[in-house]
Amino acid sequence: MIKVLFVCLGNICRSPMAEFIFKNMVCKKGLADSFLIASAATSYEETGNDIHYGAGNKLRQEGIPFTRREARRITPKDYKNFDFIIGMEESNIAGIKRIVGEDKDNKIFKLLDFTDSPRGIADPWYTGDFDATYEDLTAGLEGFISYLISEHLIPDR
Ligand code: 4NP
Repeated sequence: MIKVLFVCLGNICRSPMAEFIFKNMVCKKGLADSFLIASAATSYEETGNDIHYGAGNKLRQEGIPFTRREARRITPKDYKNFDFIIGMEESNIAGIKRIVGEDKDNKIFKLLDFTDSPRGIADPWYTGDFDATYEDLTAGLEGFISYLISEHLIPDR
């Protein structure tokens, strides 16, 4: 079982979008049972709140299933439980480390570092551009899948 936690600032836009897009990707590959996929925030700003309506609308538009959920902040226990803790931008990485401590097991990654164009994913809470968020997330998640294949953690199919 590969355990993946996506992390952003509020856990209502980027990280839950990543969670549901990635769940859909692995489901389509017939690998749903090989993964545990979740998302969390580095802040308490949106704790308990459901996915942002703009994020939900974009997922609906792309035909990606999603469920009701409640935003939650990452905990030090998450660092023990998950294999991959994937932030969206550099400030998320700093926020994650502030909460869980140093990355002694090399589990913390930035999503677009799995692509040929490493950079942060802009916060649609501020930009309002959920199309750009979706494109960036999809590119990063495809790159992550390629990484997992290259590391022989999942089959190439
Ligand atoms: P997210 O966007 O980090 O992509 O979920 C945000 C949502 C809410 C806030 C910040 C970012 N906020 O400060 O409430």
